[in-house]
Amino acid sequence: MVTLAVLGLGNMGSALAHCLLKAGYSVCVWNRTPGKTKPFSELGAVICTSPEDAVAASDFVIVCIKSHKETVELLSGLCVSLSGKTICDMSTGDTSDADSLVSFLNGNNADYMLGMINAYPSGIGNGDTTILTVGSAGTWDRYGEVIRSLGGKSAQVGEQPAALAALFAGLFTVRQGFMFGMIYGALVCQKAGVPMQVYADQLPATIKLVNDYHDLFARTVPVGDYDDAEASLKVYALAQEDALTTCLSLKAPADFIRIMHDRTKAAWEDGYGDKQLTSLVEHMTDA
Ligand SMILES: NC(=O)c1ccc[n+]([C@@H]2O[C@H](COP(=O)([O-])OP(=O)(O)OC[C@H]3O[C@@H](n4cnc5c(N)ncnc54)[C@H](OP(=O)(O)O)[C@@H]3O)[C@@H](O)[C@H]2O)c1
Repeated sequence: MVTLAVLGLGNMGSALAHCLLKAGYSVCVWNRTPGKTKPFSELGAVICTSPEDAVAASDFVIVCIKSHKETVELLSGLCVSLSGKTICDMSTGDTSDADSLVSFLNGNNADYMLGMINAYPSGIGNGDTTILTVGSAGTWDRYGEVIRSLGGKSAQVGEQPAALAALFAGLFTVRQGFMFGMIYGALVCQKAGVPMQVYADQLPATIKLVNDYHDLFARTVPVGDYDDAEASLKVYALAQEDALTTCLSLKAPADFIRIMHDRTKAAWEDGYGDKQLTSLVEHMTDA
């Protein structure tokens, strides 16, 4: 069986190591602050006092620290060969840091895998958890099973690090857009004296509509068909205008709704008024 290492036993690294041990893998663990390795000796992990020991003993090395930049710093300081190893960085990072990490690993004859974990530590090991990876050819064939034990819906999405960073940005934006929507929504309600509990209690009804938004998106954007709108872009533009005017008249922050309003209005002015709202993907690509 493959020998694994986990470098970094923070909240996420600990969850990964724990899950791999539970799945029956042989796991070496290391953490910069040694105390965090303690619980893992009882779980059967090989406790390493240096990252060199962990790397030397393993074929597949999962790093889960701060970002790709720290991963390069950590690995470049090691006095052990990385040649023939597969380094899987589960730390987050931007496109240029990902490129630097991959070229560093290529230069050291190591294979790379970069992973994006779409879960909290408590979700690691669940059948419906997704970890998306990019990796050099063959890495998924060799180690995909390990990643699937950490998240049952995990998949490799190609070889390009930029694809993973873009997917991270694209998916994170959705979650954050939702969170910021609630924050801005709270601020306008507060201005009108709506109790926050009333606002919070009304959110589930609107959240149900998010599934319909997703259905519409998935039906229209991948095929680029924006005709036959049940609710046209101009209907949304008018509703956004109402929301914007309300925010302004109550002196609530209006920048978030203004972005939506201005983008939708511009598309309407360019002849998209009767199309689906999702036609903004086409309009903004061309803009
Ligand atoms: N937590 C989540 O929900 C979640 C979800 C998805 C992805 N992630 C990603 O997972 C990574 C780790 O997150 P976390 O939540 O586990 O963070 P955390 O609990 O703050 O732990 C950070 C870990 O990184 C180590 N570390 C930091 N800088 C280091 C360096 N320069 N050299 C060596 N070790 C270093 C820390 O070691 P010490 O113990 O010595 O400080 C610690 O083990 C991040 O990239 C994060 O974005 C986290």
